[in-house]
Amino acid sequence: MQDRADKLRCSGKTMAFVPTMGYLHKGHLSLLRIGKQKADDLVLSIFVNPAQFGPNEDLGSYPRSLERDLDMAKQEGVDAVFVPTDKALYQEGYQTYVELEKLPGHLCGLSRPVFFKGITTVVTQLFNIVKPHVAVFGEKDFQQLAIIRQMVKDLKFDIEIIGGPIVREDDGLAMSSRNAYLEDHMRPAALSLSRALENSRKMVKSGILDAKLIADQAAEMISVFPEITIDYISICDPLTLDAVEMIEGRTLIALAVGLNKIRLIDNTILEV
Ligand code: PAF
Repeated sequence: MQDRADKLRCSGKTMAFVPTMGYLHKGHLSLLRIGKQKADDLVLSIFVNPAQFGPNEDLGSYPRSLERDLDMAKQEGVDAVFVPTDKALYQEGYQTYVELEKLPGHLCGLSRPVFFKGITTVVTQLFNIVKPHVAVFGEKDFQQLAIIRQMVKDLKFDIEIIGGPIVREDDGLAMSSRNAYLEDHMRPAALSLSRALENSRKMVKSGILDAKLIADQAAEMISVFPEITIDYISICDPLTLDAVEMIEGRTLIALAVGLNKIRLIDNTILEV
């Protein structure tokens, strides 16, 4: 991959990169399409990164379908797919990790202590291997995108980071590889997330700007489903992720829940 990147760079071509953990869905395809427009060459990586899963998380059962992913990549005109083994990235004696000080101390980082350290470490490795000019990440993982942007700024990676908008199913459910775990009877509960976000936007439009009122209303809508446990509902500054009391300008509402142990996240921007 590094030789390939060097040759492409020498020939004056630009490279876009979409890192994923596979089990591709329309959300990933939209990121590939953005990448395709931004550069001459498009690289996709598929790697279920063990370093970003905690001991009791779903690393073992994370959905995988390499052949299907490769077909989809071909159809999207991807030029190269990088599928490293665990050993290739975390060889014996591996001991280097990349960690941010503040941004991981919010939202998902509070209940998933190794998550972002694993992500920033693997993304750093992938950037050094693929050597892209542009990299595209989904806005559904809003905190991940904020953390990658900060890391790229702090460590002076010469890479433009682009956020791709959330892609939703027709009924509003945000696309996610983990949706593969959802059984039909869980759908109404899963949909309560996007509905609660939609309701938050309506509240702001109607002039309700008190963050606690908005978060409480979202919690109420989601708690109708006893099979859901709320991890967090946070109304915060989209850059620092610090909680805010009032909606002023662009504000993020982000939430994470467990639905029969399936972790679902979603978010939207609230604007006055
Ligand atoms: O968003 C993901 O799929 C992963 O967190 C990423 C960025 C590929 C790192 O493993």
